[in-house]
Amino acid sequence: MAFIVKKKIHGKEYYYLNENKRVEGKVKTKTIAYLGKTKKEAEKKAKGILKEIKVGISSSSSLPTHLQKIVGNEKTEMVKLDISIEDMTVFCKRRGFVYASGDIYGGLSGFWDFGHLGVELKNNIKKEWWKFHVQKREDIVGIDGSIITSPKVWEASGHVSNFLDVAVVCKKCRNKTKIDKHEIGKVKCEKCGGEFENKGEFNPMFITQIGPVEEDSLRAYLRPETAQLIFTNFKYVYDNARMKLPFGIAQIGKSFRNEIAPRDFLFRTREFDQMEIEYFVNPNKKCPYKIPNVGILVYSAEMQKKNLEPRKMKLKDAYKNKIIQTDWHAYWIAQEFLWFINLGANPDKFRIRQHTADEKSHYALDTWDFEYKFPFGWKELQGMANRTDFDLKQHEKFSGKDLKIFDEETKKKFLPHVVCEPSQGVGRAFLVFMFDAYFYDKERGNVVLKLHPKLAPIKAAIFPIVKREEFEKIAKDIVDDLKEEMNVVYDQSGSIGRRYSRNDEIGTPYCITIDEESLKKSNVTIRNRDTKKQIRVKISELKNVLDELINCKIKFEDISKK
Ligand code: GAP
Repeated sequence: MAFIVKKKIHGKEYYYLNENKRVEGKVKTKTIAYLGKTKKEAEKKAKGILKEIKVGISSSSSLPTHLQKIVGNEKTEMVKLDISIEDMTVFCKRRGFVYASGDIYGGLSGFWDFGHLGVELKNNIKKEWWKFHVQKREDIVGIDGSIITSPKVWEASGHVSNFLDVAVVCKKCRNKTKIDKHEIGKVKCEKCGGEFENKGEFNPMFITQIGPVEEDSLRAYLRPETAQLIFTNFKYVYDNARMKLPFGIAQIGKSFRNEIAPRDFLFRTREFDQMEIEYFVNPNKKCPYKIPNVGILVYSAEMQKKNLEPRKMKLKDAYKNKIIQTDWHAYWIAQEFLWFINLGANPDKFRIRQHTADEKSHYALDTWDFEYKFPFGWKELQGMANRTDFDLKQHEKFSGKDLKIFDEETKKKFLPHVVCEPSQGVGRAFLVFMFDAYFYDKERGNVVLKLHPKLAPIKAAIFPIVKREEFEKIAKDIVDDLKEEMNVVYDQSGSIGRRYSRNDEIGTPYCITIDEESLKKSNVTIRNRDTKKQIRVKISELKNVLDELINCKIKFEDISKK
């Protein structure tokens, strides 16, 4: 049973969330969370804690199973919580990650604003993606294309004539959604199993006009993908960056789709950021890179056709056994998987699914989707299509420009193929990292957002242990110094426990405290968010130590050895 209690300590009132447990026939009471100093605050916080762990507060009923799991397991203090997409939306709003766009006017379906922490996490995701895919590689360079471009680009790419969704409404529950053309007559409403009424095809590109006078204006589109700008700039980049095949061009930027049914928070939105690579190869040459030795759940088109379950296998075996057709595809799938798991995502929640013959896009020879087990099911996280020379061919045809390159070996000109196009939505990656980081610590009584330090919005919070001028001065000097290199905050409001829990909940990996010993020995404590362990470090070494911790060059336990 969970209930709120008030305690008087040194004449002051404090509220706690307690729990009664029967141990060897006797009822014992344990505190599971500190709730603040007022009844109102306590009730709000208790509701929040219990909402985050998917239960309702009750003073008379038994603890619901989720909470029993949390408070009842003496060995495991930290529990992984699988919360719903609705709870994640609430959490993101309450903690300053994401708000509905124009929320004070009731919001706008499919549009979201990133708050002071959300923008940091989103920027860190993009930064890490760019570092891994561009900065650290010799064979990939980037571009930043325009959101609105010549409408001819979209005619050439096939988006004007082929980029079509089918709008349907459930005859029973009136659920509005979109389906692919090949699904007409084959799928039923996912909410109630009812039949769909077909409302017709429509193109999800947003239309705009260029030029203020309507009669003289040009009809244009907000780009529905970043990819096409890579193709139209292909030849310039190839020549000016002096690239040699195989090579890639990367881009991060906004895309827009007028989705029929935006849903599931950041999962399906009308405005979103994409991180895409077009990787160009000579189709007659093999991949020169080794396929990394990683295994993942594989769900081929054949397995789907035969109603078989996905099977875990090494990607190099999937290629050897011809489940994945090209070595390049296997190589890129492994790279994308490694990017996610090296940044703390849970590998067991990933699988790759091959597009069946009737669902492939108009441009693709073979497509594998990277799927993630979201609370609302296995869904596409990233698309990886083999686009062949479709796009370059189309742009040659529509522009009349020669986009071929010269092959030194055969002394002939040819169009390179895009053998794999890793295409990732930033919002979906944001959700993956948030879901996989969401833990609850029963002893602390709060959520611990175990984001990888590279992704964490705030790298360190710096506190004077109590309000005292000498402590505050040291803390502020440290903040000024660290701010040159990383995002840190100064925090002196509330008890030290409250400051820890506030930072645990937003994923700050390190808390730095200035105390009496700091005055005498010029050192501070660093507290590790995940283990609560603390270690003393000289102030003069703090910046280096934090940098090494964040970039995984040293383990927390090894700092004192150093
Ligand atoms: N250039 C290829 C392309 O755009 P896609 O499968 O349509 O392929 C690629 O999109 C990725 O972009 C998806 O896997 C997803 O991560 C993201 N994405 C697509 N539509 C989205 C939407 N409406 N909201 C959020 N992310 C979206």
